[in-house]
Amino acid sequence: MTQRIALVTGGGRGLGKNAALKLASKGIGVILTWNSNEKEAQQVVDEIRQSGGKAAALSLNVGNISTFPQFVKQVQETLQTHWQSDTFDYLLNNAGVGINAPYPAFTEAQFDQLLDIHFKGPFFLTQNLLALINNGGRILNVSTGLSRFALPGYSAYAAMKGAMEVLTRYQAKELGERGITANIIAPGAIETDFSGGNVRDNAQLNAYIASQTALGRVGLPDDIGDAIAALLSDELAWMTAQRIEVSGGMFL
Ligand SMILES: NC(=O)c1ccc[n+]([C@@H]2O[C@H](COP(=O)([O-])OP(=O)(O)OC[C@H]3O[C@@H](n4cnc5c(N)ncnc54)[C@H](OP(=O)(O)O)[C@@H]3O)[C@@H](O)[C@H]2O)c1
Repeated sequence: MTQRIALVTGGGRGLGKNAALKLASKGIGVILTWNSNEKEAQQVVDEIRQSGGKAAALSLNVGNISTFPQFVKQVQETLQTHWQSDTFDYLLNNAGVGINAPYPAFTEAQFDQLLDIHFKGPFFLTQNLLALINNGGRILNVSTGLSRFALPGYSAYAAMKGAMEVLTRYQAKELGERGITANIIAPGAIETDFSGGNVRDNAQLNAYIASQTALGRVGLPDDIGDAIAALLSDELAWMTAQRIEVSGGMFL
């Protein structure tokens, strides 16, 4: 059987890295992207290869849509070189940054950066990659618990993720005729570098979130990487247009 292939944006660190490793451990080939940390992305590629898997890393700024046609060419070349394939199976739109500020103080520049990276980028990146996704393939977008509950400072970030949730339903509707599913995972607060590593490094915040979480702790990258691998498994191929929150029961 030919190897299934996933493209993971932002696969060098945090949740994307964890997902890339979990997908590779299930025998899936991985193309992961990096924006500022080539070295860390290459380390993930090396780790996958050392475990007997196949992986490659490409540079991508999801906030810069003018580069997407060139990126698509690089994906095509990578697919040919490493897999002798024209297409891939799973697209994980994971890359992102945490920018927060009180709503009254939010600047247009901050808003535009979030818009480009968290909504416009994934909207057009996915569109540019459609011809390379196999019929029967899967799109998994990444939202946040903050689209369900509100924490001060995240107005623009959460609104972009909310937009992605709506887009996910339209992707499911319009790509369904090709057998492509589109779903969106909404992690709760997870200990990564995100937002300056706040959730991981601020003990008071960490304890507060744990106290507001049914399962009694903050999320870890493994919680989300495992969930992503499960959501992309064959057993869930009939599920589409869904928002799946994976938060340990945060702010119920
Ligand atoms: N951690 C949380 O609590 C949490 C909760 C809910 C949702 N999320 C979402 O989960 C996703 C991953 O977050 P994370 O926690 O893994 O964050 P992270 O540890 O800060 O990692 C961010 C990743 O995104 C990449 N990236 C950042 N800006 C980019 C850009 N302009 N173009 C392309 N790639 C870019 C980074 O690449 P480089 O390393 O190369 O810069 C890195 O791989 C994001 O969409 C985030 O909104 C996170």
